[in-house]
Amino acid sequence: IAHGKLARPAPWWAGARPALLDAARTGTPRYVYDLATMRERARALRSVEAISHCFYAMKANPHPELLRALVQEGFGLECVSQAELDHVFAHVPSLLPQRVLFTPSFAPRREYEAAFARGVTVTIDSVEALQKWPEVFRGQRVWLRLDLGHGEGHHEKVRTGGVAAKFGLPVARFDAFLALARTLDLRITGLHAHLGSGIDNPRHWREVYAQLAGLADNVGTVETIDIGGGLPIPYTPDAQDFDLALWRDGLEEIKAAYPRYGLVVEPGRYLVAECGVLLLGVTQVIEKDGVRRVGADAGMNALMRPAMYEAWHGIHNLSRLDEANDTAFDVVGPICESGDVLGRNRLLPGATAEGDVLLVADAGAYGMAMANTYNLRALPQQDIIGP
Ligand code: LLP
Repeated sequence: IAHGKLARPAPWWAGARPALLDAARTGTPRYVYDLATMRERARALRSVEAISHCFYAMKANPHPELLRALVQEGFGLECVSQAELDHVFAHVPSLLPQRVLFTPSFAPRREYEAAFARGVTVTIDSVEALQKWPEVFRGQRVWLRLDLGHGEGHHEKVRTGGVAAKFGLPVARFDAFLALARTLDLRITGLHAHLGSGIDNPRHWREVYAQLAGLADNVGTVETIDIGGGLPIPYTPDAQDFDLALWRDGLEEIKAAYPRYGLVVEPGRYLVAECGVLLLGVTQVIEKDGVRRVGADAGMNALMRPAMYEAWHGIHNLSRLDEANDTAFDVVGPICESGDVLGRNRLLPGATAEGDVLLVADAGAYGMAMANTYNLRALPQQDIIGP
């Protein structure tokens, strides 16, 4: 069986239950990350020969130990704010600036200046930036982010192309950008596009490369083509696994067609989503008007994805893994918002009760990174398991 539920190996956390229950005893909410799982994903990507460099989109999870392990695995880091740049150079002192990308959106001028001063690769995506701040860009080398006219991904809010999206220079303004760049002696050494997050079609990236390579041929100075991140993971039990082999074959084919350019990818989710779980303590179990609800000690404050994107995460009662999941519950958090629901209609053991530990699966990407202190609830704690 090539795809699907039956072929998928048991998740790492199924074998780590005692350690996870121990960790939960020291306090919940708590994220736990398994480095071995992350390294496995990292090695799968690094083995794709068509790729010149992989950069980890650290916005997905900036935990310093994850960053250090990924750098050890040969990844560079992609940053989107000055604070992310400061964070990576503080926590990974060995990191060379050429292994860092800076891909901000509507950043203030001083962040571009700071990034150039550090010597990292800066990506810009508008004519306006050049018009407003010519002295910042004069004589520099930059990558240019393009909007290829459409977005992709698991939810409207994560699609980053097309008229509704704020990212990227429309291809129609490419020539105007190049003309202005010439007057500033600004060299375009890379073309970039990231159309969204959680893109199911493995052929998407080869198409992006083909389009960018076609445009790069007219520029003359382009060395690198960055086709973004956006690789999905299977969150639901019936989701298909991402076909990495098909993805790789597509990249190899298209790279052979346009061999002049270095190929760069910048995944976030694919590397870290499955390595992370969120442990929550059950606070109360309440039935109202025929709906049973399990309350947890954190909800949308610890994991925004269900509230923000209607995202689905597996939820398991780690204290009762051996009992039958025979009763439907809504799993909710303690936040004063009706949207504070981690999962609706989830089958859990009927005896689920105060003090049990719930495990929210595949929470390593955009979990802790988007956690907040709404209602003045404390941020989750974090642990690392494994070498
Ligand atoms: N490169 C750029 C320029 C990006 O904007 C992003 C993500 C990535 C790479 C990495 O994308 P990934 O491989 O992780 O899909 N909070 C949302 C996802 C937002 C993604 C933002 N940009 C979620 O939880 O689904």
